[in-house]
Amino acid sequence: MQFFLDSANYREIERWLRQGVIDGVTTNPSIMLKDGVYDIEEGARRICALLGSRPVSVEVTTNDHAEMLKQARVFARWAPNIVVKIPVVNEYGESCLGVIHALNQEGISINTTAILSFNQATLAAKAGATYVSIFAGRVADEGNDPGTVIRQVRQWLDEWDYAAKVLVGSIRAVMDVQNAAIAGAHIVTIPPQFLPKMVDHKYSRDTVRQFNQDAEKAMAQIAQAKMAS
Ligand code: E4P
Repeated sequence: MQFFLDSANYREIERWLRQGVIDGVTTNPSIMLKDGVYDIEEGARRICALLGSRPVSVEVTTNDHAEMLKQARVFARWAPNIVVKIPVVNEYGESCLGVIHALNQEGISINTTAILSFNQATLAAKAGATYVSIFAGRVADEGNDPGTVIRQVRQWLDEWDYAAKVLVGSIRAVMDVQNAAIAGAHIVTIPPQFLPKMVDHKYSRDTVRQFNQDAEKAMAQIAQAKMAS
């Protein structure tokens, strides 16, 4: 499975790419704003260049379907690894599946975003989404179990042979990453602040400390033995 970084922070992306654990990047307008990327084109182009062939999701910023199509076509020209994020519905509840379908027909990769239910995910996959983004934290906010949604969507995609990948976002804690992975997510997109917590463990540190101390003792024994001979 893959891990993406849910961030527009160039330094964090560089940092975790160097660790060899990042297969792509996702952004949205709120993430761009939080990370100080006010010029979406400039920021997206820079991140895309850094990522090489790995996918970078950039979200449309309108409710209007015609404008979504226009923005998506512009974004897709910025870099070959751009994936356009289209919400499953706009803020008025109007279906964006037609936009997803049209862009898919043009060969543009689509990440269908703001998915909170099994049915939304199946429709997005049918319309031609490359990724169906299930928002785990927001599913839980609504009193539902993200693990169940993720598991059922993954089973359905596999059973009916859809190519769409389950991408799990809206990660609020380290445990959400683990739960999404176990539930069958193809990809989890992780906010950078959780990666240091995922890699570190107090007992790992203690274990390494013990090994280092014992290695030092062994060196001292060798030195003593050399002195004595
Ligand atoms: C990822 O693709 C989403 O845009 C992101 O994870 C949403 O997270 P939030 O629910 O914390 O806004």
